[in-house]
Amino acid sequence: MNLQRTFQKAFSVLFNTNVNSALPCLIRLKHTKEDVSEYRAKMMARGLPEKKPLPGVKSIILVASGKGGVGKTTTAVNLACAMKVIEPDKEIGLLDADVFGPSVPLMMNISGEPMLNDDNLIEPLLNYGVKCMSMGLLVSGENAVVWRGLMVMQALERLTRHVAWGPLDCLVVDTPPGTGDTHLSLAQNLPLDGALVVTTPQQAALQVTKRGVNMFEKLKVPVIGMVENMSHAICHSCGSKNFVFGSETKKCADQMGLEIIESFEVDQNMSECINSGKPAIYALPDSVHAEKYRQLANKVFKYIDTKERMQAKIKE
Ligand SMILES: Nc1ncnc2c1ncn2[C@@H]1O[C@H](COP(=O)(O)OP(=O)(O)OP(=O)(O)O)[C@@H](O)[C@H]1O
Ligand SMILES: [Mg+2]
Repeated sequence: MNLQRTFQKAFSVLFNTNVNSALPCLIRLKHTKEDVSEYRAKMMARGLPEKKPLPGVKSIILVASGKGGVGKTTTAVNLACAMKVIEPDKEIGLLDADVFGPSVPLMMNISGEPMLNDDNLIEPLLNYGVKCMSMGLLVSGENAVVWRGLMVMQALERLTRHVAWGPLDCLVVDTPPGTGDTHLSLAQNLPLDGALVVTTPQQAALQVTKRGVNMFEKLKVPVIGMVENMSHAICHSCGSKNFVFGSETKKCADQMGLEIIESFEVDQNMSECINSGKPAIYALPDSVHAEKYRQLANKVFKYIDTKERMQAKIKE
């Protein structure tokens, strides 16, 4: 009897629901790992508020990947800056949704406590013409954020709806690795226009990337395409291409019916730019990488434009 009660309690803590109400579903799902996480996603969706637009924000693009350390933040930072460079009249924002490991402040060279405006909204910090917000600006330096699901959702709510983002033509959102609470919360709360999936050509990264793409499919977030990062390294002495992480990205993209929108080689200058807080797009504007980020930005603008025109037609 005690054992039964302990199980019921553990279940309600884990899945935020009563075991009896979940039982028929669990029996049908035969308890596989994927099915349980799908069930959990459904349960979480129930408790979340309806998707509402962000006031003054025209479009929202997510930069994501299942895997850590593949270059999501590097991509998000350079994409946001490149969007501002190629369309200076457009207002661009960058939201660091990596609550546990925020690195946008370092990469965008922003620091200091943000101010509150007259409407009690947090003013984003501006650098390189991009409006930025990050948990790293709200929690002091080396303090670790040790939070569970609901607190992460509340933090995201604060970083999205309690920030004076508008007017913005596009908000680029950098996400943490994995397919967890942050992604679910963003996808279920915000009208996301699309996601860019960043990966390296490594088997381990590609496998997790597939999981990420499947998650977006389930959450009905359109995947714009893949960004391959660290595709290869160039040998300094002979100039030959060295495929250090393999070359399986194209095969993986084809299997998922996705396009590789842009591919970036390993470049030591890239990490130096990131560490110095001056994105490659500004630090090395004539580099191959900067040109590719401008092309990526151009493709994202085109995607947004096409989507807006299609939506306007549907409304007609
Ligand atoms: N093309 C590249 N060439 C060389 N270094 C790179 C390249 N892209 C990213 N890096 C470096 O790799 C490291 C990881 O990049 P980044 O922080 O953007 O990854 P991430 O996917 O956001 O990581 P996390 O999952 O921890 O958030 C950084 O030190 C960055 O400078
Ligand atoms: Mg990151």
